[in-house]
Amino acid sequence: MKYTITTGDCADISTDCLVVGVYAGSKLTPSAIAVDQAAGGLLKRLAKRGDIEGASGHTLLVPCEDDLRAPRLLVVGLGDANQLDADEFLAVVRSAATALQRTGATNAAVTLAEAKVKQRDLGDRTRIIVEAFAVSRYRFDRLKSKKSKSKNRTLSKIVLPVKEKSSVAAVRRSVREGEAVSSGVQLARDLANLPGNICTPSYLAEQARKLQRSHQLKVSILSEPQMRSLKMGSLLSVTRGSREPAKLIIMEYRGGAKSSPPVVLVGKGLTFDAGGISLKPAGKMDEMKYDMCGGASVFGTLLATAELKLPLNVIGIVPSCENLPDGAANKPGDIVKSMSGQTIEILNTDAEGRLILCDALTYAKRFKPDAVIDIATLTGACVIALGDPASGLFSNNEQLAKGLLEAGESSGDRAWRLPLWKQYQKQLNSPFADIANIGGRGGGAITAACFLSRFTDNLNWAHLDIAGTAYHSGNKKGATGRPVGLLTQFLIQRSRN
Ligand code: BES
Ligand code: MN
Ligand code: ZN
Repeated sequence: MKYTITTGDCADISTDCLVVGVYAGSKLTPSAIAVDQAAGGLLKRLAKRGDIEGASGHTLLVPCEDDLRAPRLLVVGLGDANQLDADEFLAVVRSAATALQRTGATNAAVTLAEAKVKQRDLGDRTRIIVEAFAVSRYRFDRLKSKKSKSKNRTLSKIVLPVKEKSSVAAVRRSVREGEAVSSGVQLARDLANLPGNICTPSYLAEQARKLQRSHQLKVSILSEPQMRSLKMGSLLSVTRGSREPAKLIIMEYRGGAKSSPPVVLVGKGLTFDAGGISLKPAGKMDEMKYDMCGGASVFGTLLATAELKLPLNVIGIVPSCENLPDGAANKPGDIVKSMSGQTIEILNTDAEGRLILCDALTYAKRFKPDAVIDIATLTGACVIALGDPASGLFSNNEQLAKGLLEAGESSGDRAWRLPLWKQYQKQLNSPFADIANIGGRGGGAITAACFLSRFTDNLNWAHLDIAGTAYHSGNKKGATGRPVGLLTQFLIQRSRN
């Protein structure tokens, strides 16, 4: 999508489709008023007839051959002017994007950013528009032999009319940020939607090499023998049941001063999680191809960061393997030794994410990071606790937690904090090893985070459990690209301080 920003009267714009907003009670936005006047009271007449009421998300396509320089007008309901918040606005823009893409328009002028949205300025609203249009264009049909022929891709240019010259710079910056986040989200969704037989650990490693070439990241890929020399006994135990070689993918973006300590993102990269010997039930098991969504979000966030050329150092680490049952696989009761030296009793082989993350977190320490954030589809318990509105957030550092919560709030990709109290730690006691890999029925998302916390002493660390947010299941099945929005916003915020 190509964006241009213009100033001046929107009724004068020559475009395939002019998109204007109307509040509930047929209250016209400034652009709608301008259009109404240019078109001899057209909108007021339509309102009187009851065709435009302004209900949130309703759209009306009005052919207007002669009245305007645009042959089509798309009138979009914004709902109650005093109730419009960011979530509602996003829903409105999404339905506008869908309606627009059903027309034959190849370009459009979208004035919706002038709507007043609670706690969102013009720049924020612009970003919401850019991200929503990108999402509405997304298709994953590369594995179908017949691509969908819908008009979905014909819309390729959007004009954003801006009232005051003084706001052009801010709008331009927001467009840039929105586009960067959108490319990150799209990369994360593509990687995640690919099936386990294509998106293997080696495939992910190749994709990292691709980013190295296209975005000048420094990439290193550690093989199993290299992980063995590092004594990553916990990570390696998970991959033993698989025929695909495990990879530890390290991607370095250096946009900050040499001496500036990096933010390290560690993403769970299970390209398929069958559960291992503690085998999962067959229903919905296909969705465990999404068990690399944490890793995919690290790829996406690094892409967005590199596109924005943020003045920061950011390192992505993606431990990647499969978890399958096999004669060599982990067995319940097995005890393995992690890179940290701590021994782990594996009571359930399906709690494998923490087993690969703990070694990746120990590895992260060598970068002397300012903050380490791991991202993982870690527990079904988190899905039960929070559903899909928010990712679970855990942290041993108040500042870091606050920064992530705020980034979630302002990007609309929310997280909600859960505790790491030591009462929960007790659930991980093992009679035979330093720690058990599961903590019993209660507080499953929390005990999983507690497990990780045993490997993050002396780090400013946060953990995002994205099991409920990274993908939709059922008939809307597909990756969401979350939490690329949250993480990129967090890094943008940090680069401003
Ligand atoms: N990848 C799963 C978590 C998961 C479950 C993600 C459902 C998305 C949807 C993880 O490896 C897992 O299997 N966790 C177990 C842990 C349990 C054995 C303590 C779980 O949540 O059931
Ligand atoms: Mn599992
Ligand atoms: Zn898993």
